[in-house]
Amino acid sequence: MKSLLDTHHLKSIENLGNETTSYESVLKIAATLAPAEPVQCFFPHKLRHQINCFTNNFRGDVAFAVKANPSHQIIKSAHSLGIKTFDVASLPEIDLVASNAPEAKLHYHNPIKSKLEIQTAHFKFGCNRFAIDDLAELRKIFSVTGQNNEIEIAVRFSLPQSNNAVHDFSEKFGAKPAEAAHLLAHVKLLGFSPVLTFHPGSQCTTPAGWIEHIQAAAQIAQNADITLTKLNIGGGFPVKYAKESKYPLKAFFTNIEQAACAAFEVPPQLECEPGRAIVGPSISLLTQVKHVRHEQREIYLNDGIYGSLLEMTQAEQLTPNLKVIKNGKYIQGNQQLYTVYGPTCDPLDRLPNKFQLPMSIAEDDYIEFESLGAYGAATSTRFNGYGHASIVEIKN
Ligand SMILES: Cc1ncc(COP(=O)(O)O)c(C=O)c1O
Repeated sequence: MKSLLDTHHLKSIENLGNETTSYESVLKIAATLAPAEPVQCFFPHKLRHQINCFTNNFRGDVAFAVKANPSHQIIKSAHSLGIKTFDVASLPEIDLVASNAPEAKLHYHNPIKSKLEIQTAHFKFGCNRFAIDDLAELRKIFSVTGQNNEIEIAVRFSLPQSNNAVHDFSEKFGAKPAEAAHLLAHVKLLGFSPVLTFHPGSQCTTPAGWIEHIQAAAQIAQNADITLTKLNIGGGFPVKYAKESKYPLKAFFTNIEQAACAAFEVPPQLECEPGRAIVGPSISLLTQVKHVRHEQREIYLNDGIYGSLLEMTQAEQLTPNLKVIKNGKYIQGNQQLYTVYGPTCDPLDRLPNKFQLPMSIAEDDYIEFESLGAYGAATSTRFNGYGHASIVEIKN
């Protein structure tokens, strides 16, 4: 059995540099490396497919929301596949983009930033786009940069959460429409370039959220007496998980475009900034079975909710499809329901739903969780010394 701590093939997500070893398949990794730590199996062709889907069909600028997967490899690959703008939320994310996609444009769309963060982003990294959702943040930016019409200020507004999104963004962020109109007018008054932005909520399963926000955006711009030249429609595009169907993203884009044409006399340039839908499908998490208690129908894995499986605790819809691997082959056979625990010594470290798994599952087998490229490794912790997941590439 090989410990990933001392293999030279695999590198941690933080340390990943230029060189990457490619493997034929997830099965090959399980069979030949027999990794004792979780592994992120990255499929570049799936990333390419998702990026092409956006860049070929969405009529507007497509940014990648770095928070979904802040790894060198993903940023570098996304950039080489045509992503020229990155939505960032912190200085470390800006630094990551600067070192992997040096000439890319930055949208600093976290509405809350310190003066130091604004100063560093603008003067050191050349960032000319900032989001705000209150007057204090606008004044903060003005106090750091002074008047500058090359700086775009994106006023983030929110509407009550629509019921087809998994994560609700409307509570923490976004000015109410009346306040947003006031802010937009103020942006212009201070000599910045006004933009509007919203996020309809993550994993939206219908275009309804975008449509109602676009209608509201037109009203906000009209109330502020601003001819809006750019409208950022956020992320939120869905990924296929175990119980979800495949979503027709092209049809979403058509609906969004039609809504913009209907709501505005002169439609603004659209921008989107997906995270989940760009990177989600491109990574499978390979975990190892550490222990099985068949009578109690319990299994213990080497990763759990404190590692890359956190999102499963947040909504059942985000439960990924899984496949069991024994001796280098996918197996099915007679199945029963198992409770699945993570590796930490913590009672909360248990996946929320039971899983149908083959009754032949045994210690040292593997479970591959599909579509964990977004908010998997990105949110994993090192609680109890676990959570480290190396990234390896799978050949097309
Ligand atoms: C400002 C902003 N833009 C884009 C995204 C990406 O959202 P998603 O992963 O749902 O596409 C997020 C995610 O939280 C966000 O906060």
